[in-house]
Amino acid sequence: MQHIFRIILLGLALACTATVSAAQQTPEERGKAHFNDPKLGGGTSGRSCNTCHPGGKGLFGVADKMGWATPAGRSRTLEDAINICITKALNGKPLGVKSREMQDLIAYLRTLKPKP
Ligand code: HEC
Repeated sequence: MQHIFRIILLGLALACTATVSAAQQTPEERGKAHFNDPKLGGGTSGRSCNTCHPGGKGLFGVADKMGWATPAGRSRTLEDAINICITKALNGKPLGVKSREMQDLIAYLRTLKPKP
């Protein structure tokens, strides 16, 4: 009987740690998770950002640019470029420009510094 209680307690402890660590994620960490999530924007293509930009490939220094080149032409804002990739490449719906998901994604893209 005691054995069962220990297992239940252990389970509860693990559940608590998981909840706390999810809540403590930084915007950059959440953005990286979105970057790897094929369901971002409700995407149905099975592709995530990381499929075509593995480890941020092609996106180093992207947050510091003044204009962006996407599979559907030029974009004047980073949010627009991201949303084009979400709609065209992930088959998803565009994210709100001010949404937390968008802000987190951009926080992650900012960590991709240009290679010296
Ligand atoms: C099917 C492949 C594919 C997927 C998936 C994809 N992209 Fe792209 N992305 C591209 C291509 C191709 C370009 C254009 C690159 C070029 O012409 O320089 C691009 C361009 C971009 C640019 C502009 C780069 C620049 O320097 O101007 C950004 C930002 C970007 N993608 C972000 C994302 C994000 C964020 C995701 C996930 C939501 C994503 N992409 C998913 C293929 C993809």
